[in-house]
Amino acid sequence: MVANLFAAAFYFCRIMVDNKSLFTPLLLEWYAQSHRPMPWKGERDPYLIWLSEIILQQTRVEQGWPYFERFRDHYPTVVHLAEAPEDEVMKLWEGLGYYSRARNLHFTAKYIAEELGGRFPETYEDILALKGVGPYTAAAIASFAYDLPHAAVDGNVYRVLSRYFGIATPIDSTSGKKQFAQLASELLDPGQAGIYNQAIIDFGATQCTPKKPDCPRCTFREQCVAALEDKPGAYPVKSKKLVKRKRYFHYLIWEAKEGLLLQKRQQKDIWQHLYEFPLVEAQGVLTAEELRQTALYRDLARGQQPRLVGASRPFKQQLTHQTIIAVFWEIAVSQQQLTNNTSHLMVSRENLAKFAFPKVIDRYLQDKSLYLKMV
Ligand code: ADE
Repeated sequence: MVANLFAAAFYFCRIMVDNKSLFTPLLLEWYAQSHRPMPWKGERDPYLIWLSEIILQQTRVEQGWPYFERFRDHYPTVVHLAEAPEDEVMKLWEGLGYYSRARNLHFTAKYIAEELGGRFPETYEDILALKGVGPYTAAAIASFAYDLPHAAVDGNVYRVLSRYFGIATPIDSTSGKKQFAQLASELLDPGQAGIYNQAIIDFGATQCTPKKPDCPRCTFREQCVAALEDKPGAYPVKSKKLVKRKRYFHYLIWEAKEGLLLQKRQQKDIWQHLYEFPLVEAQGVLTAEELRQTALYRDLARGQQPRLVGASRPFKQQLTHQTIIAVFWEIAVSQQQLTNNTSHLMVSRENLAKFAFPKVIDRYLQDKSLYLKMV
């Protein structure tokens, strides 16, 4: 009995060891055969690698691809990006989401241009010190640009490793993060760190996808624990369930002959530095009468009797932690005096396309054919 247990444990350990030693060679073999061109693959310019990695954070390759090309063409060097006006950078980023990435990108470009003489840092630690750059991005840049042996661990890598090794430690726990970082470092081929990192990221993005991975045709089908158990959906494990907050935004399309009112979002909240219409945030749907009673409406009306022309259908935008429900109230005023609120600006319809808006506003404007998208 005891001998049998020992034999089983020995056998299990051997499989684990074999599986571990097979991982990197199989991965690199898969990568050598998967010809999937992307504009940043093989790139050695740290600035362009950084740009692509910031764009690809929380973004699918197909979605990020045209943005990368647009930024590279507009700003071929870090100095070009540093010298661009912030509104222009935000406009180019429009539609990609997580706008703090664009603000940090611009901030860091200015820092590199002004404080580092335009030279991109060359060590992992110095790259990691840049604003908006975390351990994953620093490892990607350091390995792609300089072949430094740092393993990049992002969502793709968590998924691949947890499935392959059948690791159920939650990836959002401290011990999980440590365990995966340690394993990733052991699997890294230090002689070809850049290729190894690109291979595992690519594998996670294209083969070991979050939903419906094609396990029967996978290179790892005979080693991967999740494939052998036929339950790829069970990995990776997360301990916290995401709670989504619902928010109701009532936008006032406050329109006079001269144009309509806009404001720039300044507060520490979603969509910081994007533009929007004057906003009433409420606990739910409002009636026209309730809207008229709000402080903002009364402030904008300034004793006039604006004509409430109508309200749009609700537009929904799903963010990671929040669901936004936006209703656009169309209000005609005979003459608009700007309020004491200095953050409001009056913009003609023709000029709307110059401003960067959140997606939900973009969709409303396009629905109404109020503006044509700038390319
Ligand atoms: N996602 C993040 N970085 C990536 C890269 N370099 N290639 C493909 N997908 C990615």
